[in-house]
Amino acid sequence: MQSITIAPDKVTGGLHFSVGDKPAILLHPLWLRERVTDDESFDARSGQRLYETAKLDPDLQIKRAEITPDGYMSLAFSDGHQSKLRPDSLACEIGQSCNHETLPAPKSWTAETGRRAPIDWETLDNPKVLKSMLRDFLKDGYCIMENTPTERDSLLRLARRFGFVRDTHWGQLFNVEKKPAASDIAYTDAALGAHTDNPYREPIPGLQYLHCLENGVAGGLSTLADGIAIAEQLRAEAPEQADVLEQVSVRFRYEGERAILENYGPIIERDHAGIVRRMRLSSRLDFVPALDVNTLDLFYKGRRRLDELANSDAYQIRFPFKKGTLLMMDNYRLLHGRTAFDGHEGRRHLQGCYTDHDGVSSLYRMLARGSQITRVQRDV
Ligand SMILES: [Fe+2]
Repeated sequence: MQSITIAPDKVTGGLHFSVGDKPAILLHPLWLRERVTDDESFDARSGQRLYETAKLDPDLQIKRAEITPDGYMSLAFSDGHQSKLRPDSLACEIGQSCNHETLPAPKSWTAETGRRAPIDWETLDNPKVLKSMLRDFLKDGYCIMENTPTERDSLLRLARRFGFVRDTHWGQLFNVEKKPAASDIAYTDAALGAHTDNPYREPIPGLQYLHCLENGVAGGLSTLADGIAIAEQLRAEAPEQADVLEQVSVRFRYEGERAILENYGPIIERDHAGIVRRMRLSSRLDFVPALDVNTLDLFYKGRRRLDELANSDAYQIRFPFKKGTLLMMDNYRLLHGRTAFDGHEGRRHLQGCYTDHDGVSSLYRMLARGSQITRVQRDV
């Protein structure tokens, strides 16, 4: 940890806080008070405050501040409360340093840079290997595992390692195989262009798993493209088109015999830090509003270009599924699809399911803290 410099601000009652030679930030006194974790204010077991923040003095000020010999910040507040805070956790929260629990930032990739070696499922019982695998998943948005159990429905057990399986009107698991009178192109042997799953659902599934139980066909390669990379490429080529895809809220709709589902959102969505966080690319299910012709012209050009990029040799990786392959991918960030195959060659049977993002994030933080657990667990 670099040196910390602090000084009360007499005008605002806040605190000037700086790490090393970084510029000082003026922290609000209430912001600091809400981070106090002494026994009087905070329940260490639950991680919850022992008071209602609305009851704090709205005119609270910091009267004195010093770094103690043991490296804590000692703060005296105007209401008489005296507190010690850990400066390293504050520095991390304001983005001036990282701690070991900070999640790895996403790193965009192309077809040239995005290929990763599969992980042997059996090795994930080692917490170090699991943490490394999760770190790479958080950076890349996907992971391919091999040598998994292949009994029917074993995916439920596999996916529960990383999160709680999302139930939908299709059930917890869905079977991807060629079916007569298929209700979805996914259940034929046709190619599937790059897309994200279920943008019509609220909430949209976070992580998707595809598990191969059997594959007797030569085609049917799985495809992946990185949404961050293609969105940034579009912005570099045609910023006005990217603007429309980030600003226009599109209606996505699914209508079946047992459910009518609808949700809205932009094709490209960024997070609070400006990083592309979510793509909604599902051109069989999207209904853009009847906007003016110029805006829609930009929308259609941009959407077409995104589709080209996501299915191009430059941005798309392709790999075969073999018995026991398990693909785990971020359905917000990545676009997936498959190449065509000939269903007469043999049977191709995958099972799929969804979990939320926070299972992986939580497991990573637990392992970073030194836990030896190797799967998401319920609090009992
Ligand atoms: Fe899909």
